[in-house]
Amino acid sequence: MCGIVGYVGYREALPILLDGLGRLEYRGYDSAGVAWIQDGAIRRLRCEGKLQRLKEIVGAAAGITSSVGLGHTRWATHGEPAERNAHPHADCTGGIVVVHNGIIENYYTLREELKAEGHIFRSETDTEVLAHLIEKHLAGDIILAVKAALQEAKGAYAIGVLWKGAPDTLIAVRKQSPLVLGLGENGEQFMASDIPALLPYTRNLIFMEDGDLAILRPGGIEMSSLTGGGPVTRSVHTVTWDAAMAEKAGFRHFMLKEIYEQPQAVMNTARGRVVPEVGEVVLPEIGLSSDEVSGIRRVTFLACGTSWHAGLVARYWFEKWARIPADVDLASEFRYRSLVLDSSVLTVPISQSGETADTLAGLRIARDLGSPVVSICNVVGSTITRESRGTIYTHAGPEIGVASTKAFTSQLAALFLLALWFAQERGTLSREERSAKIDAFLQIPAVLEAEIPRWHEGAAELADVYYSYKDFLYLGRDLQYPIALEGALKLKEISYIHAEGYAAGEMKHGPIALIDRYMPVVAVVPRDHVYEKMLSNVEEVRSRRGVVIAYGEEGDEGLARIARHVVAVPRPQDPDLNPFLYAVPLQLLAYEMAVARGCDVDQPRNLAKSVTVE
Ligand code: M6R
Repeated sequence: MCGIVGYVGYREALPILLDGLGRLEYRGYDSAGVAWIQDGAIRRLRCEGKLQRLKEIVGAAAGITSSVGLGHTRWATHGEPAERNAHPHADCTGGIVVVHNGIIENYYTLREELKAEGHIFRSETDTEVLAHLIEKHLAGDIILAVKAALQEAKGAYAIGVLWKGAPDTLIAVRKQSPLVLGLGENGEQFMASDIPALLPYTRNLIFMEDGDLAILRPGGIEMSSLTGGGPVTRSVHTVTWDAAMAEKAGFRHFMLKEIYEQPQAVMNTARGRVVPEVGEVVLPEIGLSSDEVSGIRRVTFLACGTSWHAGLVARYWFEKWARIPADVDLASEFRYRSLVLDSSVLTVPISQSGETADTLAGLRIARDLGSPVVSICNVVGSTITRESRGTIYTHAGPEIGVASTKAFTSQLAALFLLALWFAQERGTLSREERSAKIDAFLQIPAVLEAEIPRWHEGAAELADVYYSYKDFLYLGRDLQYPIALEGALKLKEISYIHAEGYAAGEMKHGPIALIDRYMPVVAVVPRDHVYEKMLSNVEEVRSRRGVVIAYGEEGDEGLARIARHVVAVPRPQDPDLNPFLYAVPLQLLAYEMAVARGCDVDQPRNLAKSVTVE
């Protein structure tokens, strides 16, 4: 989730680009760069680190003057944060530059082909292949070259292209990554990956749609379709948002925006890593030899907080599909135990930030005991990834709300892939079974997309009724037990309501004593193999005058008869994937409760996004 800004017009471009990038810094901030055309040549300045560094470098460079340029702040997906990986990326001649937000799924194959044809690569990014592909297809017409290049690239992209042969032209293309165009005064034109970059200059915006290609020149924007045909017309919208609203894409809080981003985040985790037709998962980033993989007898997941809950879900998948015994440890406990670990145990640290002190300490201990370490992480180049043998990046984009939401579901997606990969390597699931699981998984983003607005509305109604209650109990079994824990954590951390997650079968061993009409019970009850058991638990609560808010399948009349409220959740093609669907309405419930109580949702008291101390 990077930041892109482009300008063509009559003013000096560089101050506009740097100012716009500053307004997008929340999208990515590990490196930055700008490119512009001056004296018939493309010039670039790039650096690792925050935008401030780039501003200093540009400030120190004498004599820059140009009225066309592209800028980028990066949130790394392929290749560590470093100057060579910062955008804009150039072709071999340096005459074409590209900025990109998204993921090119087939970049590795394209890169190998281009290298074999003599192209020289200078970065580890997926983006650089686009610059070389355009170079390969360029025969005088840059638009045709961009279109031909993008016929070959699979994946998601918002891109900006600058060519020295057309010094008053910017090209913008969008496929599954946002890109907005701005119409300025006196014929100047802008492009950006998000609205805040443009607000000081114009409020007249065109929202590009998938497959749109735009040519920006002083005086006008021409739009067409990537796949051919005539011109495309998109209406101009005048936005009235203030800068703070625009940063959150109109959502009231980052947390809510991130909840709504989950379909995309889950899809991004899977991009380029599954071949559904043959039931294959492709994870070269694991970094283990086949001997090491066949020697693995046990897996230990290591994490804190929400990431630990993702590990708890993964345990079920690993045991069921790959038939590998799995442990899930809280990193803060793991690091002080007398561990029995060696090269036959795979350690999997799970961390959004990649900087959590306890998880990092646990990783180092496991590694020193000879355990191979493959991490699941969202932040490219973070300490945990640097110290792991391999990393499966979640590609969820920056998560700003302290409460983890899209990082959680994308961790589930990465763990789903890893579990299935092990099942594939060990032959514990047939090709057909794996294909069916991948198909079912690929349906999840669309289901989330369709259901989130409805769940959101329902959560607001529930919050109206329950926001002043002081205690909640969350119950689940099997795969839904970690989801109950996660639901309770979400509620307590942002609304400051006491909430406990419990394995439903444990209720009668203690917590049942607490049940009365003042402690609502949130029960996660899909129709899976423990459905009947969960129904009995719900009955037990009801018969003690407890109030049950149940999350269950659409049309489940049995559940509707015994619960006070039922939030309907569609049945996934494969019930093993229920955690993806049940986690999200519980996030929304916590969010609406916190809003109703007037809490600071994005920055809850006493909490930090990244816990880098013990
Ligand atoms: O960055 P990490 O995933 O390692 O962070 C772990 C926990 O600190 C984090 O999940 C925390 O529990 C969140 N605030 C939960 O929403």
